[in-house]
Amino acid sequence: DNSKAWSGRFSEPVSDLVMRYTASVFFDQRMAMQDIRGSLAHAAMLARQGIISTQDLADIERGMAQLRDEIERGEFQWSLQDEDVHLNIEKRLTALIGDAGKRLHTGRSRNDQVATDIRLWLRDAIDQILALLGHFQRALLDLAEANADTPLPGFTHLQVAQPVTFGHHLMAYCEMARRDAERFADCRKRVNRLPLGSAALAGTSYPIDREFVARELGFDEVCENSLDAVSDRDFAIEFCAASSLLMVHLSRLSEELILWMSPRVGFIDLADRFCTGSSIMPQKKNPDVPELVRGKTGRVNGSLITLLTLMKGQPLAYNKDNQEDKEPLFDTADTVIDTLRIYTDMIPGIRVKADAMRDALSQGFATATDLADYLVKKGVPFRDAHEVVARAVRAAETRGCDLPDLPLADLRAFSELIDEDVYQVLTVEGALGSRDHIGGTAPAQVRAAIGRARKRLG
Ligand code: ARG
Repeated sequence: DNSKAWSGRFSEPVSDLVMRYTASVFFDQRMAMQDIRGSLAHAAMLARQGIISTQDLADIERGMAQLRDEIERGEFQWSLQDEDVHLNIEKRLTALIGDAGKRLHTGRSRNDQVATDIRLWLRDAIDQILALLGHFQRALLDLAEANADTPLPGFTHLQVAQPVTFGHHLMAYCEMARRDAERFADCRKRVNRLPLGSAALAGTSYPIDREFVARELGFDEVCENSLDAVSDRDFAIEFCAASSLLMVHLSRLSEELILWMSPRVGFIDLADRFCTGSSIMPQKKNPDVPELVRGKTGRVNGSLITLLTLMKGQPLAYNKDNQEDKEPLFDTADTVIDTLRIYTDMIPGIRVKADAMRDALSQGFATATDLADYLVKKGVPFRDAHEVVARAVRAAETRGCDLPDLPLADLRAFSELIDEDVYQVLTVEGALGSRDHIGGTAPAQVRAAIGRARKRLG
């Protein structure tokens, strides 16, 4: 049977090229299970409302069960001729059960059907991502806890700024991941509304019960306007925006891992299983996984722009343009899910080289701010203290030593207010311990932050 579901109106078939160009079955078949679920809920509603018979419903349920088996076993014959996942399934259903299969499409259109399928599919993807974000945060928390006291230079402009602990540094990424999870959870609220019942664009003349279908499919509510429900993909764009931000965060972390693993820095080592060698340079161990995370952030950002651009010129209601929403959306979800999985495995395999981190802290005058604060606490206005310390730094630099290596007499030449107790302030531990408030890098605060994060994750 070569006829298409809609070919009755046409006097000639489409060319092979047009058929291939307009078909979506090769990428939308991955929504098959969602399509079947949606159809079963729709059919149940039609029967309940007396729009189809209970015998029709029983036939549809029997046919769909067989069809589902065929798909799961990989035996289903997807055909380009039948354009998309919806028509492929409907055609096979009708071949299996006859007229009841043809009644399934009563009171519905592919426009509300596809919007429903995408939302069901995306809801599952979001739930998976939320679970993975939980695992990712726990992996960060474990490493942060083990390094709540490990000093490391904090940088601004990639120049040594002040000491922080490695645990504090990791907790920054944990906060980012927490906000990412909030964004996905928030986006899920708007994904989880039911478009079905909007039919092609205006609703339908059958006495349908949309609330019933919403309950059957686990939607929180129904979409309130039929034109909007079949045409907007803002929920997919929100998902891609949340994904882009998550990937940007992971990309920043990746950049740091790559930098830290460079022998010139040497702060960490990554487990071998996340690295690859070189075919020419026998000594190489390259951080391929973080590099690819950084690289794949580009495609995820690109998909966001694809979807925004896809929507911007579309008049109401449905246009075929919208068929182009799926590949970027699927690719984004696949990339985010794989990236979170691999990252969660990679984090426990990070070997921290605490000596190298501490070593790096002895260069760059990381406690200069502490010396200024010390003077302020003795009554010097901050701007004057800044000037005094700048001169002390210049002296230390000329001598090729760090601030705490300057003898007291030399320090006192810059300010008489400096006493023996300055050396406590100039140590890394002193600097860390003094930043003792919520959000600060004091080890006790880092531990408290880890505790709060664990509690939130449950
Ligand atoms: N394959 C289509 C899509 O992905 C399904 C909706 C088709 N609707 C239509 N009126 N051609 O958007």
